[in-house]
Amino acid sequence: MIKYFNIIQALSRTALANPNEAILHQIQRLKDSLEKDGHNKEAKSLDGLLLSSKYSMDMSPSKIQKSFVITRGESLTVKTPTPVDKETSTPLAEIFFPLDMPPEIPLLDDNIQLAIQSIVNEWMKFDQLSEINAMPASSCLIYGAPGTGKTHLAKWIAKQIGLPVVLARLEGLMSSFLGTTSRNIGNLFAFANRYNCVLLLDEFDAIAKLRNDPQEVGEVKRVVNTLLQSLDSRHEKGFTIGVTNHESLLDPAIWRRFDIQIEIPKPSPEVMVHLLGKFLKPLEFQENEIKFLAWCLEGASGADAKILSKWFKRAFVLEKENSIVDVMRQFALLNSGRVNIHKRNIMLHSDEDFIAMLLNDKIYSFKQKDIASLFGITPSSLSKQLSKYKDSEKN
Ligand SMILES: Nc1ncnc2c1ncn2[C@@H]1O[C@H](COP(=O)(O)OP(=O)(O)OP(=O)(O)O)[C@@H](O)[C@H]1O
Ligand SMILES: [Mg+2]
Repeated sequence: MIKYFNIIQALSRTALANPNEAILHQIQRLKDSLEKDGHNKEAKSLDGLLLSSKYSMDMSPSKIQKSFVITRGESLTVKTPTPVDKETSTPLAEIFFPLDMPPEIPLLDDNIQLAIQSIVNEWMKFDQLSEINAMPASSCLIYGAPGTGKTHLAKWIAKQIGLPVVLARLEGLMSSFLGTTSRNIGNLFAFANRYNCVLLLDEFDAIAKLRNDPQEVGEVKRVVNTLLQSLDSRHEKGFTIGVTNHESLLDPAIWRRFDIQIEIPKPSPEVMVHLLGKFLKPLEFQENEIKFLAWCLEGASGADAKILSKWFKRAFVLEKENSIVDVMRQFALLNSGRVNIHKRNIMLHSDEDFIAMLLNDKIYSFKQKDIASLFGITPSSLSKQLSKYKDSEKN
């Protein structure tokens, strides 16, 4: 028995008591490596644990009712080998199983959320619709600014449909010699067409960007053509989701291949308030404090809100008495790209200008008493400060 194997075994058993696809995958890897190195007894013991855990997962009710889609192809498992670039052996895809995908839809404005939900509902009734020859849309392009939750949304959609995601590693596909790129694309789509899955083409613009290289025009045309043919080959084979934040770089012919196009906007003030409330948990901030942070993050993305929330969590765990305004200033100072430049300049300039700008804001309509509490002063001294400020502005 190899050293510490009893601990490895106990760890694996504990992890498998509550299994998910990622845990199964890692323990499978460990088992394969042990086997390869001749530790057959240990490998066999892990195999036994894996088998009983997979059996119980297969039987669990949540697993059985997961997939809503008529399944024509083969099923992907943790053991399915992913396609690789023949020259470099770089994987062309990564597989995510429903248990590894985000359980909640990204927070978006109600109308977009409803529209997305209605598409997903159609996909969930795929069987019924295809019986009457009313196939729902099977491809969708998600586009919008960086960090707005596009990849999150794509994975959530796949989770709702109950299919694993074959995530194309486009950088990997494209980084090899151009001549082999078309072949890689062909192999990737052949793989996706063989299995029941959602094919996710994230950062899709990587292909389009190549068009800027004048030396490679002919080759790039070939790549784009292969992609077009491959997208056509997916028709009725499974779902395809393309994601990009440079939609203008996409070839119009590629655009047309997608039945549905969803633009994900930057969060509105309302959505930003919700996002911050969610990301800041378990810290509890008052409504006016969260509104203040949302105001500071005007024009930022959901990913920026997540970063700001982490910053605040660190600051408030270390020092409970911290002032929100001071921590916000530090954040603005060290995250210049995440805070609106005009607001940043004023917030770093003086309290008076900062307060005046907050009070004059038409969207958030802050009350004087809320601002006074943010700045740690009484409402009456805020009024005094403001009248002095107005006088100095007149002179
Ligand atoms: N509207 C949102 N609701 C919930 N989470 C969000 C939202 N927007 C961003 N996030 C979170 O921010 C992080 C980044 O999101 P994601 O990677 O999906 O963005 P993206 O649009 O794909 O960005 P990029 O264009 O840079 O790839 C994730 O952790 C995601 O959950
Ligand atoms: Mg993304």
